[in-house]
Amino acid sequence: MYLDPSKPLEARVDDLLSRLTLEEKLALVHADSKFTTAAIPRLGIPRRWLSDGPHGVREDVGPDTWKPAGRTDDFASWMPALIGLSSTFNPALSQAYGDVIGEEALKRDKQIMLGPGVNIMRTPLNGRNFEYWGEDPFLTSRMAVSYIRGVQSHEVAACVKHFAANNQEWERGTINVEMDERALREIYLPAFKAAVQEGDVWAVMGAYNRFRGEHACHNDYLLNKVLKDEWGFKGLVMSDWDGTHDTRQAVMNGLDLEMGTEKPYESFYLAGPFREGLSKGEFPMSILDDKVRRNLRQMIAIGALNGRGPGAINTKAHQETARRVAEEGMVLLKNEGGALPLDDTKIKTVAVIGENAVQLQAYGGGSARIKTFYEITPLEGIVRRAGQRLNVTYSTGYRAEPDPDLVGRAVHAASQADVAIIVGGLNHSKYFDAEASDRKDMKLPYGQDELIQRVVEANPRTIVVLLGGGPMEMGPWLAKVPAVMLAWYPGMEGGNALARVLFGDVNPSGKLPCTFPKKLEDSPAHALGAYPGKNGQEVYAEGLLVGYRWFDTKKVEPLFPFGYGLSYTSFKYSSLKLTEGKDPKGPLAIAQFEIENTGTREGGEVVQLYVNQTQPGLPRPVKELKGFHKVFLKPGEKQQVSIPLERSAFAYYDPDKKGWLAEKGEFTILLGSSSRDIRLEGKFALSQTSLEK
Ligand code: BGC
Repeated sequence: MYLDPSKPLEARVDDLLSRLTLEEKLALVHADSKFTTAAIPRLGIPRRWLSDGPHGVREDVGPDTWKPAGRTDDFASWMPALIGLSSTFNPALSQAYGDVIGEEALKRDKQIMLGPGVNIMRTPLNGRNFEYWGEDPFLTSRMAVSYIRGVQSHEVAACVKHFAANNQEWERGTINVEMDERALREIYLPAFKAAVQEGDVWAVMGAYNRFRGEHACHNDYLLNKVLKDEWGFKGLVMSDWDGTHDTRQAVMNGLDLEMGTEKPYESFYLAGPFREGLSKGEFPMSILDDKVRRNLRQMIAIGALNGRGPGAINTKAHQETARRVAEEGMVLLKNEGGALPLDDTKIKTVAVIGENAVQLQAYGGGSARIKTFYEITPLEGIVRRAGQRLNVTYSTGYRAEPDPDLVGRAVHAASQADVAIIVGGLNHSKYFDAEASDRKDMKLPYGQDELIQRVVEANPRTIVVLLGGGPMEMGPWLAKVPAVMLAWYPGMEGGNALARVLFGDVNPSGKLPCTFPKKLEDSPAHALGAYPGKNGQEVYAEGLLVGYRWFDTKKVEPLFPFGYGLSYTSFKYSSLKLTEGKDPKGPLAIAQFEIENTGTREGGEVVQLYVNQTQPGLPRPVKELKGFHKVFLKPGEKQQVSIPLERSAFAYYDPDKKGWLAEKGEFTILLGSSSRDIRLEGKFALSQTSLEK
């Protein structure tokens, strides 16, 4: 019966559970190699493969080491980093991205993909910011849910991680995080909740850090109370690799699958020691059964017992999606005097400068690295796009080991060219965008500040392209250069995408999913001296005021605000109408307005809706993102947009009432092209107070 796909999932799970021996049950709750759990051939349960990560299917390692397995069939498509996907503000594209991940995972016979990570950007320095979606819980939720749906539409489970409060790499395995309940509920948990309740994600990975004194991988409050009891999560909780530390807590506090412990597999907490505790009657058998059920649910739900489809890898469609995400995720930060797009009929020589123009990025960053089929670098993309018409030169300009000659040669090359394009920023070396360490500051490394200034002195038509996974300081040179393009880590098609955006084949439409502060000390966790914690503990002193919530409420001027990004065209917003929702099950309000492309090029705009409550019962940030919509318009084209406002758009978490409170009274609805470029405003009055648990 458990093999019959026409039978209900729960009945199949119960049936299979009843056939398992104790040893077989135990085998399903811990690893038997770095990324697998054991097969149970007599019942047709295959070996279960898990794989990183968010940006593609990682190469195989192991079995008992982190070293590459040395296979020739473990290449994958390398997709743009999630921070760039987030910048698209396009959930449909996020779903298409998830589709690629799911289809390739199936081809590589992986059952669970270890992503997406949905930790919030609390500090610009987090070494893993590139793997996450920025600073806003609403944006992260919308994008992650779509990603998960994409992955899970291919007989593959997604695994949302790292639950919870894993917002820095510094002391990540030990740091104890303390924060108030409102910050937890309003900032750090929403994306996990949405992944569970809307994305129906089959797996959740615990975090390395401790939370309120207990390790997150076996944390009674987070896993038992919030995730399973309150949210009704039915799938499995796995540990992060080597994130399990205690048998009793692992058994009792909600962990269902132990991975990566640095011990022989039989000595894993959920192996030998668990068996011993069960035999002594220290743990009830029902607790093992619950863990096994959760594991079986995932396997049966994705069809792992019935033979899954073939999948596909690095198809034309995958390459196309990679390129579209890269194109739509690029953020035009500055563009003066029409410096961009470049017109290849009006220039003859382009001097490309900078190590990141040629640096391969795919195989870096830690667990998110990808053994990619190919990687089009920025230089290659520019040469492919414009090399036939234009003379493209290349000069290194800067590199990790200082070399004063490089600057001189780059300056000379720039002086000989019509346009200079500096491709700089960060990379995946330790202390930049890399797992297990944080950045040390927000500055550009390797003397790039000086290089940029010298080059722009030699050639005022200098375009700066930045790669990186988070905010970078630009103070020394920003005023001097006419154009800056932020490309994040744009994936295997990145160079092609960049060239298409620079030469105007594509109009940039990416928006920042995080604030770029002028300097690190402006950022809340740093302004308050909270980061990186003291004596193994970090108190999130800024509470709710993360990212733009802090900058706006405290009136701190950022370098670039959340939601910011320019276009080669312009948009006009008009005719806002706020109406009350009529359907009792539908949204409480609907914001309707018109948007028109008033420029000369086709382009996309991300309309952002922020909510402000005039007199909240508890203090609230001055604005919070509660809706967005991306529109693509031809020149002169006008469109009606409506954004629904659910009850959740008005509510905040009331820790005393332990629920989401939407208060009767006045709200201001702000519609803008960024969090600081509000184009339309309207008032809306909620007629009733309501509380939801
Ligand atoms: C990372 C996870 C990853 C796991 C397996 C850990 O170090 O924190 O994100 O999925 O390794 O590679």
